[in-house]
Amino acid sequence: MPEPLRARAPAKVNLALDVLGRRPDGYHELDTIFLELELADEVEMLPSAEPGVDVLGPWSAGTPTDGSNLAWRALELAAAAAGEAPAFRLTLHKQVPPAGGLAGGSSNAAAVLRLAAALWPPVGPLLPGLALQLGSDVPFFLVGGLARGQGRGERLERLEDPAPVDILLFPPPPGEAATSRKTAAVFQAFTGLPPAARAVPRVLRRLASGELCSADLLGANALEPAALRVFPNLGGHRARVEAAIGQPVVLTGAGPVWFWVGPSGEGEKLAERAQAAGLAVILTRAARRT
Ligand code: C5P
Repeated sequence: MPEPLRARAPAKVNLALDVLGRRPDGYHELDTIFLELELADEVEMLPSAEPGVDVLGPWSAGTPTDGSNLAWRALELAAAAAGEAPAFRLTLHKQVPPAGGLAGGSSNAAAVLRLAAALWPPVGPLLPGLALQLGSDVPFFLVGGLARGQGRGERLERLEDPAPVDILLFPPPPGEAATSRKTAAVFQAFTGLPPAARAVPRVLRRLASGELCSADLLGANALEPAALRVFPNLGGHRARVEAAIGQPVVLTGAGPVWFWVGPSGEGEKLAERAQAAGLAVILTRAARRT
């Protein structure tokens, strides 16, 4: 039996997200700071006479196993580019809450693209284009670490790793999970004007001056007000989280996951407080790349 090819597929948060305007193609022009997390799914790819997708792990619910699965679409695209058949079984071990603004699905797709490029070297140079075809967050995972993303998020500039920080993720309670096409719904509800004072330069200055905390990120996600309108229970969830941990939290991407960031070593006791208040919480850290 052949060994499967394996890749980590980490989650991300957006430390800041400016929406600069709507483009003629319907997308929005963004300026954002992506941060790769230690929290990751694992993706396996095994040659198979019965190609398809299996989804396992604590956050498997809600991830499609049909042709709409983004990792499967990544395999199909890469195979077509290589002139090969997508004769593989993909197994996704989900540790990342889906559809939360953590880009787990996008990261799974990027992991498959990287594995496919290792199998079929001519696909390597095509990866950035294939990634953007799959979704605006996919190209970031070809770069990883801390990066500034402009355009739809595909014009990426890698930045130095931040000082070590703990990160707490607060997924919504079960039953209040995201609606399908929620990112599109949040962008559609976005009514802001191009910002007079952009958040990205402010957060970049803060990152350069040392340890980051979530109070520094308040107001830095332009999608937060729109997400609060789209998800009826999002504001209540934030209030419960902030009451439990006694510190502010901010939204990642289009949400609905809230996150806290703060000094290394402080996350554990705050996570315990959140758990004692009956909240779902995941403790992780910024990934170290350099
Ligand atoms: O690129 P992706 O498929 O992840 O985007 C999902 C939806 O989010 C798009 O169809 C679009 O409505 C919206 N979007 C946007 N501008 C971006 C990224 C996403 O309007 N830069």
